[in-house]
Amino acid sequence: MVGSAYPTVNRMSKPSAVTLNPMPRHVAIIMDGNGRWARKRLLPRVAGHQAGVDAVRGVVESCAKKGIEVLTLFAFSSENWRRPASEVGLLMELFLQTLKREVKRLHSNNVRLRVIGERTAFDPKLQQRIAEAEATTRDNTGLTVVIAANYGGRWDITQAARNVAQKVEIVALKSNDITPELLDQHLSMSDLPEPDLFIRTGGEQRVSNFLLWQLAYTELYFTDTLWPDFLAPAFDEALLSFSKRQRRFGRTGEQVEQAQGA
Ligand code: FPP
Repeated sequence: MVGSAYPTVNRMSKPSAVTLNPMPRHVAIIMDGNGRWARKRLLPRVAGHQAGVDAVRGVVESCAKKGIEVLTLFAFSSENWRRPASEVGLLMELFLQTLKREVKRLHSNNVRLRVIGERTAFDPKLQQRIAEAEATTRDNTGLTVVIAANYGGRWDITQAARNVAQKVEIVALKSNDITPELLDQHLSMSDLPEPDLFIRTGGEQRVSNFLLWQLAYTELYFTDTLWPDFLAPAFDEALLSFSKRQRRFGRTGEQVEQAQGA
């Protein structure tokens, strides 16, 4: 009964052959360092965010070229509202203008755009623009670009738990029916593969309430490069580092090597 109520993808199943991955299917990035990039040039912080948009364009192009399936970008966290109101306003404006300017080009390149996060907090104009961008690109089959906006990993897990709780009333779910797989199916990116590679630019080494659940087995890569300087060679370096990682998914190194030899 419960099983038939939730028969969607089981993206948490482990890969059948555990091998070194030459190319990640899903890359998730915390784009940090825009402010410092601007300060180094005696420019206002917003100039750093504007330069950050150019870097976004570059990484999107690289991912599309390399056949990466999903690129998730942390554009605005649920904690970023704590910034000065003027910077929040400018970031919102930049988001709106970027959507306006880029959607046509993304669409013509077969890119599907998705936004995750609590979007009801945004200005109605921005909400409408987001909905239009998603609708326009929904059926595209190339790269999926996920923008995390007013997103937080804790928010995502909480909204999933809330949705499961609602189902308790509808399909008489028992507490034992609540499994990691069931919760997973209610998260924002439940239909997409989990991130293989997480990148954070700007020198900090923390996850900052990004994809908390989804990063369980993700390879982490931190670089001092500031986001606007994260151009194709820097991205290639991250991908090279990823290609050298041994992904064990809980197994021993010997088991992995044995599976690879088989
Ligand atoms: C962190 O740098 C960056 C942000 C909070 C915003 C990221 C936004 C963009 C790259 C532009 C908009 C993106 C899209 C997809 C439209 P920071 O300001 O914390 O830098 P700092 O640590 O050097 O101060």
